[in-house]
Amino acid sequence: MNLIETYKEDFITYLNKKVKVKEPTNLYEPIHYILQLGGKRLRPILTLMTCELFNGNVKSAHDAALAIEVFHNFTLIHDDIMDSAPIRRGKTTVHKKWDLNTGILSGDAMLILAYQCFETYEPTIFKKLLELFSQTALEVCEGQQLDKDFETRNDVSIPEYLKMITYKTSVLVATAMKMGTIIANAKEDTANAIYNFGLNLGIAFQLQDDYLDTFGDAAVFGKQIGGDITENKKTFLYLKALEVCSIEDKEKLLSYYNSDTYNEFKVKEVTQLFENNKLQEITINEIEFYTNKAFVILEKLSISEEKKLILKNFGLSLMKRTI
Ligand code: IPE
Ligand code: IPE
Ligand code: MG
Ligand code: MG
Ligand code: MG
Repeated sequence: MNLIETYKEDFITYLNKKVKVKEPTNLYEPIHYILQLGGKRLRPILTLMTCELFNGNVKSAHDAALAIEVFHNFTLIHDDIMDSAPIRRGKTTVHKKWDLNTGILSGDAMLILAYQCFETYEPTIFKKLLELFSQTALEVCEGQQLDKDFETRNDVSIPEYLKMITYKTSVLVATAMKMGTIIANAKEDTANAIYNFGLNLGIAFQLQDDYLDTFGDAAVFGKQIGGDITENKKTFLYLKALEVCSIEDKEKLLSYYNSDTYNEFKVKEVTQLFENNKLQEITINEIEFYTNKAFVILEKLSISEEKKLILKNFGLSLMKRTI
């Protein structure tokens, strides 16, 4: 087993011990369901990894890792409601399997459960973790609001898009990493550098998510392909296409994103348009750009080359993901 798999197994064992169904089952079953659906467990792995990289005891990072994963899964339940998504990790989404109210309330409970995870930390660490977590959670809400606002706007710029994905996705990746360093009592400037590393990796991660939403394999990716196109999401692919394509294609794209054309046809047409305009290559280059930006930050860190390589390999593996 490699290091990443070891952290993942370790985290899943802890999760299984902590997450149980109790009464009322209509509240706790959906929580158990989403948390047992799998997923990459990227964020908790990062918390455990950074804690150990900075000489902390990996066990002491378990509760922060769990808080982050419970919070992430809460955002997924509510995100699937907001995005009308039918499939998550290859299975029916919570609001489709149960109903809307169940999705809302189970999600709310998960946010509270996430906060409770921090109660095991001693006051100094507790305060640092909580401040970071609350700020991040609020930023995720801001990102999600921007994402929804952009659906009905025709003038979204790429810098605005980058701000939106930084908030909805990257800050949590960055926080997952920074929490490990806080628990390990690393120096503040190191903790902040790790945060910035995570922020850039998180941007690359969301760009990849946008890419896979159109060009991924549904059976592997575990989500409905073309969901972003259906929902008129202002993704990198869409915004960049408007920049690089011909006037005819631009008009076509704008008209698709301003009407309720039959979805399957719209997805096919827009995907073809993206392909014709080389959006696959352009997006992959952008993913590489932000991954490399993260690596530049990593280079400046005063940790051993061996430790840098662990973080670098993790970034490289993310770039190649299909799930
Ligand atoms: C999905 O996150 C939501 C995004 C921020 C793109 P992940 O891709 O980490 O989802 P799981 O947890 O592995 O299913
Ligand atoms: C997800 O963005 C961000 C959060 C869940 C906060 P997406 O809407 O792109 O995520 P997926 O693709 O549904 O996982
Ligand atoms: Mg979504
Ligand atoms: Mg969304
Ligand atoms: Mg997505």
